[in-house]
Amino acid sequence: MRILVAGANGQLGREIVEHLQQSAIDVVPLAHRQLDITDEIQIRNCISTIRPTLVVNSAAYTNVDDAETEQHIAYAVNQKGAGLIADACMKGGIPLIHISTDFVFDGRKGTPYTESDSVCPLGVYGKSKADGEREITTRLREYIIIRTSWLYGVYGHNFVKTMIRLGKEGSELSVVSDQFGSPTCAADLAEAIATIVRKIGIDGNPAWGIYHYSGKGVTSWFDFAVTIFRMARQRHKTGAPAIHPISASQYPTKAKRPEYSALDCSKITNAFGIKTKPWKESLAAVVHQILIKKTYTA
Ligand SMILES: NC(=O)c1ccc[n+]([C@@H]2O[C@H](COP(=O)([O-])OP(=O)(O)OC[C@H]3O[C@@H](n4cnc5c(N)ncnc54)[C@H](OP(=O)(O)O)[C@@H]3O)[C@@H](O)[C@H]2O)c1
Repeated sequence: MRILVAGANGQLGREIVEHLQQSAIDVVPLAHRQLDITDEIQIRNCISTIRPTLVVNSAAYTNVDDAETEQHIAYAVNQKGAGLIADACMKGGIPLIHISTDFVFDGRKGTPYTESDSVCPLGVYGKSKADGEREITTRLREYIIIRTSWLYGVYGHNFVKTMIRLGKEGSELSVVSDQFGSPTCAADLAEAIATIVRKIGIDGNPAWGIYHYSGKGVTSWFDFAVTIFRMARQRHKTGAPAIHPISASQYPTKAKRPEYSALDCSKITNAFGIKTKPWKESLAAVVHQILIKKTYTA
């Protein structure tokens, strides 16, 4: 198998590349500057020279708030780019693994969303990702779309690093306590993707379709932050800032976010034997790595 990974320099892309390499899978990682997924000619050239047996698309426009004012870029990458990748996969008979988001839902359901729930995004980012999913599902039969949520890890920018950096600056923090979801460790998701890739390599025809993958359990941004500081203090004796719960209405953002976006992940467990981990389980190791490598300032 040869796997082309688009968006290979992102928070998740880097983990995917590392996990595939650890499985001794032939990976061709392409960062944004090597493959722009909005450029049809570049996609065609990459596919014809690399000749992948599978494409993993981790490239996306991910700035939820800026998407409200940069709609054209969000749609160009998340909708059109996903469509162009799907087109190239369709022409080459290549299966596609693509990453999507809990933000395709409006958060009003009140219980974890299943793959058969209707999408109803609240903002431009979620809409562009939902449209990207449709570009894939209408073109391809052999696709796996994985919706995930609240991603964090040692690479890139994420909530865990932001909290640790603000904590180090000694700021007093106010964190939203009435939005609920499931933090997901990027390395755990990358391992799940590697499992699916191996399965495709072995039997070639898994249960294609849309899947959910996130950490197990539901929390608020406030409790997530409190847990991060507790873990940082336990192992690194870092001081914790004063942290106050606030409502989302007290912290206005450009984009509206779902109030409750937990994902039901039983389908991926039943189809691939992938078990999700309790969300706190992987967090301590990532907090430790971030503090050791001091990547919270990056
Ligand atoms: N982060 C989250 O909390 C979260 C939650 C749910 C779902 N997701 C989904 O998970 C996936 C991975 O997200 P992430 O957290 O790894 O985001 P990320 O760190 O922002 O990575 C996305 C990567 O895509 C690249 N990219 C942007 N435009 C591109 C283009 N036109 N062509 C090629 N590459 C392009 C970016 O490169 P540059 O930085 O150089 O532009 C970046 O390396 C995305 O599909 C995202 O929608 C993320």
